[in-house]
Amino acid sequence: MLVFAKIKSIQQKIKELPKGTSIGFVPTMGALHKGHLSLIERAKRENDIVVVSIFVNPTQFDKQEDLINYPKTIDSDLSLLKSVFCDIVFTPTAQEIYANSIVSTSFNFDGLEHQMEGKFRTGHFDGVGTIVKKLFEIVTPTKAYFGEKDFQQLQIIKKMVEKNHLHVKIIPCDIFREEDGLAMSSRNTRLTNEHRSAAPFIYKTLKEAKIKFGTENALDVIQWVENEFKKHPLFELEYFEIADEDTLLTIKNKNKQQKYRAFLAVFAGNIRLIDNISL
Ligand code: PAF
Repeated sequence: MLVFAKIKSIQQKIKELPKGTSIGFVPTMGALHKGHLSLIERAKRENDIVVVSIFVNPTQFDKQEDLINYPKTIDSDLSLLKSVFCDIVFTPTAQEIYANSIVSTSFNFDGLEHQMEGKFRTGHFDGVGTIVKKLFEIVTPTKAYFGEKDFQQLQIIKKMVEKNHLHVKIIPCDIFREEDGLAMSSRNTRLTNEHRSAAPFIYKTLKEAKIKFGTENALDVIQWVENEFKKHPLFELEYFEIADEDTLLTIKNKNKQQKYRAFLAVFAGNIRLIDNISL
């Protein structure tokens, strides 16, 4: 496994690959878990080589405190990557990526950026767009893999690729869950034992909402979920929304032709978790 921290070095290596080599790319912020590994294993099966980036991107954090506390586990990340036969790892510094100007580009994602996470995390998607575009330019992947846990991010990246005519195929990957249903996330390691034990409540509520959505109207389902969280002593719901999968616009009237998804963000103490379910 080759590890590069410099843009020039990884680009040189990629240039030397035999013509036509397909590159599967998995961008990450490190603190790797089984969810990441499943993306890497899939990328490995579907491409000639796999590149993983580990970069905690400062421009996508709206709270400095969250950036500082984001788990950083580079040694165990590199061991895990070796264990799944990753070919190339890119571990740049913020200086290498942004030089002396740690700012994001402003994007227009046709409104996708104003929904859900966009309402609560100012500038987050500009930060994501900025880093993912830079990484795509450096790595020149054939296919790039993103988990559906960050479904809004996935749709935004697809939009960026489409609008900028980038030559990369975005591959959505199912949410990877712990046995008790909690969606895997690097942030889970920061939950207290109490919050961690109670966390299956989140997915359980989403699954019940899905069943209710089969027979009830959306507003009733939304109210039911909000009440369930109000009653729970450990979680504070930031939002629960039922939205169209493509436009991410909040549901108005249920329409059989449209595909919907339920999305939520919830605080477990000061740890913010997100999850979603296809309805
Ligand atoms: O989903 C993530 O881990 C990050 O948002 C990403 C795509 C690696 C960009 O920093």
